[in-house]
Amino acid sequence: MEAARPHRGLITGSLLLFPLVAVVELAQPWLLKVAIDEHILRSDWVGLTWVAGLYIAVLAVLYALRTVEAYLMQLTGQRVIHDLRETIFDHLLRLEARFFDHNPVGRLMTRVLHDVEAVSEAFTSGLFAVVADLVTLTGVVIVMLWIDWRLALVTFSLMPILLVVATYFRLNARDAYREVRRRLARLNGFLQESLQGMTVVQLFVRERDERERFRGLNTEYRRALFRSTRWEASLYAVVEALGSVALALLIWYGSGRIIAESLTFGALVAFIQYTNRFFLPIRDLGAKYTVMQWAMASSERIFGLLDRAPAIVSPAAPRPRPARTGAPAVELDSVWFAYDGDDWVLRDCSFSVAPGERVAIVGATGEGKTTCARLLNRSYDVRQGRVLVDGVDVREWDLAGLRRHVGIIFQDSVLFAGTIEENLRLGADGAVSPADLARAIETSRAGFVTELPRGLGELLGERGANVSHGQRQLLAIARALVYNPAVLVLDEAMSSVDPESEALIRQAMTGLLAGRTSITIAHRLSTVHAADRILVLHRGRVHEDGTHAELLRHGGLYARLYELQTGAASA
Ligand SMILES: Nc1ncnc2c1ncn2[C@@H]1O[C@H](COP(=O)(O)OP(=O)(O)OP(=O)(O)O)[C@@H](O)[C@H]1O
Ligand SMILES: [Mg+2]
Repeated sequence: MEAARPHRGLITGSLLLFPLVAVVELAQPWLLKVAIDEHILRSDWVGLTWVAGLYIAVLAVLYALRTVEAYLMQLTGQRVIHDLRETIFDHLLRLEARFFDHNPVGRLMTRVLHDVEAVSEAFTSGLFAVVADLVTLTGVVIVMLWIDWRLALVTFSLMPILLVVATYFRLNARDAYREVRRRLARLNGFLQESLQGMTVVQLFVRERDERERFRGLNTEYRRALFRSTRWEASLYAVVEALGSVALALLIWYGSGRIIAESLTFGALVAFIQYTNRFFLPIRDLGAKYTVMQWAMASSERIFGLLDRAPAIVSPAAPRPRPARTGAPAVELDSVWFAYDGDDWVLRDCSFSVAPGERVAIVGATGEGKTTCARLLNRSYDVRQGRVLVDGVDVREWDLAGLRRHVGIIFQDSVLFAGTIEENLRLGADGAVSPADLARAIETSRAGFVTELPRGLGELLGERGANVSHGQRQLLAIARALVYNPAVLVLDEAMSSVDPESEALIRQAMTGLLAGRTSITIAHRLSTVHAADRILVLHRGRVHEDGTHAELLRHGGLYARLYELQTGAASA
């Protein structure tokens, strides 16, 4: 509801309109009564014409008011949605990697798109409509009692039955509707997974099974939807029937009163109209109540998300960067880290990289190499120990400053939909001249760009779908060159490119690392000779540390790995 606060003016405006609409609405049957009793039954043509004119005027006013009302309601609702969506997305941008590990994309999409919609519906068809109905209903009851309280009691006598019936159908409809939601969520989840993994589905010729599963879920959804519609329709039918009963009772009792001359004919006609206006809101009250309930559930989920404070944020008072005091450019100091529970990935891991030094990290898959990189830019925070950059704990760095200082190229480099140029400028602050771009492309050996029909203006598909894996890597390197961080961490992904591209990428990386403090996470040992020092990660800590020659001489893990790989390569 906080989301509605900035729109208080609009909301108050809409609420003020309700009584006005109610009064105008109630005036209509009253005019009918006057027309019949005072003019038609007395053959007063001139008077009747006046009343008819008045009736039309009231009608016009009513429609005008209704239009304004609907306009204001939609305007408020949509503004609330718009703001809320923005707030949620802003919040998502600040949440840390761990949050996204635990929350699938589909669920977050639902928060931002669907749940927000439901909350706005609470305003337009829920809250507002209920208030409007209640105002009208109160007016109707008062007028009915005032015209003829005995006749009013005849109508009211059907109230308890109406309430019981409406509640019964409504409760059932609600359960059916809940089922609809559940089924829809299942269908959504399946669809998302299936579409994302379409290539794998087709690769394993799973189309038939996927089709069957989709058909099953789709059918279940349709059935649930139909059940809910059935309850809804039954409710409407029963209310209609009760309305007719009320009408019959009114005509029977009212006509008796007319014959006994204790009621006018016009009053009876007016009464029949008021009765109509009495039944409809009661029928719809339940539906609106349901909408409100859904909205409540949705807003609970939304606020649950908004209440989840970002765990990794800049400190209130970031330490200004000290003048170089000979501190290492990067240092891990007795770091313990686990993604979940006690599954330690790093155990008491320590190493440091001097300014300007080029260090390579090697280790078997799953040893925690990428994890080290993630700790350096605070994608995750250590459990114990410290990560220092320029001698300052990363938790004391301004977060944006840290990420500007330590650049990382991850194994699976993500490109965004847009032109190549937009991708290259990503994150670079200040002006990037075309010459800078050209230099970056040259250094990164991404020469293929210039051969594209539209060059830098070439559009990349979502996640860079229309360039090859190797090209994506080259572009990621070019992007890092443009970003130009002081410390660069490069998580190679060499396994999936051919030797020629590998050579190209290697040249690109050499260009990238020149004159920079760098950490290369190497997956092929044949490529680490160039490093000043090699760290071998094993069982969560640095197992060996030295130059290529030293480590080979040492005859430990590295020597074994090296033998294995180069031996396999020459075989
Ligand atoms: N987001 C995550 N959530 C939970 N566990 C994770 C996550 N990322 C990695 N892990 C686990 O942490 C361990 C280290 O992973 P990491 O990605 O650092 O390995 P790596 O050395 O980079 O491996 P590779 O050479 O295959 O890239 C692995 O056991 C992995 O299963
Ligand atoms: Mg990795």
